[in-house]
Amino acid sequence: MALTPADWHDRFTRQARWTHDLRRYLYERAGMRSARRILDVGCGTGVLAAEMPRYTQASIHGLDINPAHLSLASAHAPQTVLACGDAHHLPYARASFDLSLCHFLLLWVADPTGVVREMARVTRPGGAVLALAEPDYGGRIDYPEALEPLGSWQQASLRSQGADPLIGRKLAGIFAGAGLQAVETGVLGGQWSGPPSNTDWESEWAVITDDLNQMSAVAFEPAADVDLQKLKELDASAWSRGERVLYLPTFYAWARLPD
Ligand SMILES: C[S@@+](CC[C@H](N)C(=O)[O-])C[C@H]1O[C@@H](n2cnc3c(N)ncnc32)[C@H](O)[C@@H]1O
Repeated sequence: MALTPADWHDRFTRQARWTHDLRRYLYERAGMRSARRILDVGCGTGVLAAEMPRYTQASIHGLDINPAHLSLASAHAPQTVLACGDAHHLPYARASFDLSLCHFLLLWVADPTGVVREMARVTRPGGAVLALAEPDYGGRIDYPEALEPLGSWQQASLRSQGADPLIGRKLAGIFAGAGLQAVETGVLGGQWSGPPSNTDWESEWAVITDDLNQMSAVAFEPAADVDLQKLKELDASAWSRGERVLYLPTFYAWARLPD
């Protein structure tokens, strides 16, 4: 069964939990506290916009191309000024914002350099552009080895959906290509404290299953003897033995515009 917008909201909420500490650090570095207008590009269901009032009194603007996501965003982040639009052509005047940011957006867009250039255009001189998190599935680590196919399937699935699974490693080059000199680029480390909750684990598997279902026959040619249910069981038993490792390198970059 296909995932609903509410399922995607759960997924986005989980992703935002992984990047929470990094986000706080980057908000501090980029001066979110003193910002007056902030733009969240590809704001999805409003997960980041909903928490921003904790860090700033700025007016928060969110843009997304998907009306179903925006309708959830208006419920989760009612203080946010929302717009439906394409990140490649932001419907805002030059220098309208103090900060513009995105989180798990650039892997999904056709021209990530063009999007970052647009974010820079709508940000004022002295303001900041932040790509808070972009994954790199090519660097994913799955252990035990029997679970490694999950990473390559997810890469193939993302490609078949038009996403770039290797966007993370390209992020510094994307900022440079957009004419921005990044103040800082890096990759989020991994810390684990026990297995995920059952709800999180089931919901992660719902995403894996949905990803695989979406793959075209051409893109997805699993070995005949591979059984998703079996992998799910292996995953559960690896967690219960305390030996499961799942690491997805997640890159970030931010730049300050010249005054
Ligand atoms: C993985 S979600 C991340 C949502 C949100 N940033 C978060 O972290 O919770 C990616 C979002 O980007 C949006 N998106 C994809 N392509 C877009 C485009 N060209 N312009 C604007 N939004 C886009 C999708 O609709 C989706 O809501």
